[in-house]
Amino acid sequence: MLKLDVAFVLELVPADLAGEHTVVIDVLRATSTIVAAMTAGVPYIVPVATVAEAEALAADYAGRGGCYLGGERNKLRPPGFDCGNSPLEYLQLDEEKPVVFTTTNGTRALKRVLDSQVTLIGSLGNAAAIAKELASVPVADEVLLVCSGTLGRIAAEDVLCAGLIIAEMQNRASVQLTDAARIALASYQQVAGHLPEYLLQTTSGQGLSQLGLAGDVLHAAQINYSMLVPRYEDGRILV
Ligand code: MLT
Repeated sequence: MLKLDVAFVLELVPADLAGEHTVVIDVLRATSTIVAAMTAGVPYIVPVATVAEAEALAADYAGRGGCYLGGERNKLRPPGFDCGNSPLEYLQLDEEKPVVFTTTNGTRALKRVLDSQVTLIGSLGNAAAIAKELASVPVADEVLLVCSGTLGRIAAEDVLCAGLIIAEMQNRASVQLTDAARIALASYQQVAGHLPEYLLQTTSGQGLSQLGLAGDVLHAAQINYSMLVPRYEDGRILV
C-alpha cells in the first residue's frame, strides 16, 4: 500500500527526501495563487526566496521577453511589484508571460523540499487532480503532504487541504495513513460542509479579511475547480 504522510509545518519535514513525492500546500495563499495563475494561462512560475532575488531575476527577464514580478511580504504587494499574492489578480493578466514569484512561507516551503523525487503544488482547488496523479506513485515510494504553515506555526487551512487530498486518494488507491495523515483527514471531514466560513475564521483568513482580501479566502476555498497539477522542476513551476 502507498504510504501517505503529512508534515504539519516545514520543521517536521524529514532531512532525507529521497524517494519522496512531496506536495507543497499553502492554501492562504501561495499555492492557491499558483494554481489560479497556471489555470489562467501563465506559462511558468519561478519561485525565489527573497524580494531582492526576485527583482534581480525580473531585471534579467527584461531583455528576453519580460515577466511579471509577483508576491507578497506581510500579505501585501512589495513596492514596484506588478502583482501581489492574490489568486484573483492572476486571473486578469493581459499577457502570457512567466511570473517571478516570492512569498513568505509558500516559496520557502518549495525550497525546503528541493531534494524530493517529485514536487507537486497542491491547493483545495486542484486536490482531486493531485490525488489522481499520486494514485500512480509506485508503492515502494512515499507521499509527503507538506503544509507550509505560517512562520513555523500550523495553519489549519493547509492541514484541511492535506485532509482533502487524502480523502480523494482513498477514492482512488489503496493507501496507508500515518497518524499525521489520519489527523489531517479527520480535521477535513469535520469542516467539509462549511469550508469557506471555516477558512475565514483561521488566523490567515482573519488577517486577509482585515486587509479587505476576504475574496481571496473565498476563492481559495473552492474545491476541485482545476484539473491542473503544477510541478516544481529545475527551478520552475509548470504543468
Ligand atoms: C505565504 O507564502 O506566506 C502566504 O501565501 C502569505 C499570503 O497570504 O500572502
